[in-house]
Amino acid sequence: MPSNFETRGAAAYDSYMGRWSKRLASGFLEFTGLVEGAAVLDVGCGTGSLTFEIADRRMAASIDALDYEPEFVEAVNSRKGTASINVRRGDAMALPYASAQFDMALSLLVLHFVPDAARAISEMVRVVKPGGVVAAAVWDTFGGMPSRRMFWDTVAAIHPPAEQRRSALLIRPMTQPNELQTAFQHAGLSNVTSTLLTIRTDFESFEDFWLPAVFGQGTQSEFLAGLPEPTQQQIESSVRTAYLAGLPDGPRSFASSAWAVRGMVKL
Ligand SMILES: C[S@@+](CC[C@H](N)C(=O)[O-])C[C@H]1O[C@@H](n2cnc3c(N)ncnc32)[C@H](O)[C@@H]1O
Repeated sequence: MPSNFETRGAAAYDSYMGRWSKRLASGFLEFTGLVEGAAVLDVGCGTGSLTFEIADRRMAASIDALDYEPEFVEAVNSRKGTASINVRRGDAMALPYASAQFDMALSLLVLHFVPDAARAISEMVRVVKPGGVVAAAVWDTFGGMPSRRMFWDTVAAIHPPAEQRRSALLIRPMTQPNELQTAFQHAGLSNVTSTLLTIRTDFESFEDFWLPAVFGQGTQSEFLAGLPEPTQQQIESSVRTAYLAGLPDGPRSFASSAWAVRGMVKL
């Protein structure tokens, strides 16, 4: 299986995670050092958070984007309007592009879903010209997403069989400190640098926090749906208490951090 990502469609993705990956895309693109006239590839484009950020800057000479999910490819195609974006379905571990075709290969929040991330990185290296840039970002799922922690720690306290599930989600490939950076070095990239990108995830109310988590894209919704109704209600009530933290319902803001790494293909 080329992907560990489970989709519920473009709208569900956008309501749950896409709204935050759009926020992250800008800082990530700054970090990559997008250069005027570059031929850019977005690997694992999803519904286009990074792809459209690249297009909006009107700096790239060409934009290619690829995703394994046909409905995300369709979503980018239907939203691109007049922007010149070549989007296609494909596997990050076997990129359907010629060697040294691009100046930059970028990947936002993808490598923790790819079964063999090292292979995907080596594919990104292969398709970039010598001197070009390979860059990727993954969420700091273990320590950098307190709202996700709040959810899973509550679930595991109420329903201990969820502990294994929590571990699998918090400790995803490439998300531990320095893991992505080391993988870039092992892929033979030079000048490897890393940073931590942090955005705020802002919610209007508990409902705004809860509903996309329950009905939207993501492992939370799928996991909750498999639990007995009383357990679901107990979890919702406890997560609500944690969200409110003793204050009236209303806006809350949480930090969410991602590891970002970039390197240069050796000349
Ligand atoms: C969390 S989403 C990120 C999407 C987008 N880059 C963003 O930031 O919104 C992860 C994406 O990786 C894609 N993906 C996972 N494994 C893949 C693979 N082997 N090849 C191509 N895409 C893959 C999924 O289909 C999904 O669109």
